[in-house]
Amino acid sequence: MLSQKNTVTVNAAKALLTVMLISGFAVKAQPGPARNESAMQETRDIGAAMLKELSQTLQAAMADGGPLNAIGVCKTKAPEIAMTLSMKNQVQVYRVGTRARNQDMGTPNEWQTKALEKFQSRLAAGDKAYDIEYVEVIKTGAYDLELRYAKPIVLQPMCTACHGTPEQISPEVKDKLAKLYPNDKAVNYKPGELRGAVIVTRLLSH
Ligand code: HEC
Repeated sequence: MLSQKNTVTVNAAKALLTVMLISGFAVKAQPGPARNESAMQETRDIGAAMLKELSQTLQAAMADGGPLNAIGVCKTKAPEIAMTLSMKNQVQVYRVGTRARNQDMGTPNEWQTKALEKFQSRLAAGDKAYDIEYVEVIKTGAYDLELRYAKPIVLQPMCTACHGTPEQISPEVKDKLAKLYPNDKAVNYKPGELRGAVIVTRLLSH
């Protein structure tokens, strides 16, 4: 369900699209508003699929061999899931962190940082993560509009085995994480805290 504030954000994106389409950015090759609305829903579904697949894969790996085994899954499977969804849907799917473990892949850019800041204040105001999303349509070229979508990732209790306090992370896991990620910032998170975001971007004008 969309909260009221969320609906406002989405409506604002729709209104912006409509304004852009009416105000002359639109040429024949541009999609119509109806197609943009379906692009919005598709994008939202891709974000949800990414979250669901990540969570299922992680749960299975944890049940299979505990956190030490699941590290490899987070390292290789998460980017694989993102890549598969990206190719299948001709979009780009990423995962970023408020404090990144993987500095190359997980560090948010300027727009993603803005989305994370909005999520922090919405969560602080008591909104639920599943009600929150942030969407913007950016003009990136003469005829190109880019839809940028972000959905919060909130820490769950099982995540503390690798993202929690030093007491919650076993010595073996700490050791392996330190070897793989010498600049790891993604620890000391508490359940319920904003851990990061799923990002989906797509061109609207192809
Ligand atoms: C078994 C250890 C482990 C568990 C459990 C775990 N993670 Fe991670 N997490 C990792 C590793 C390793 C990475 C770095 C992956 C990479 O190299 O891209 C990571 C990266 C991330 C990132 C990407 C941003 C960054 O910091 O690089 C997010 C977001 C994230 N984890 C969220 C979660 C959430 C939410 C949970 C619980 C549902 C969770 N993780 C559980 C090990 C874990």
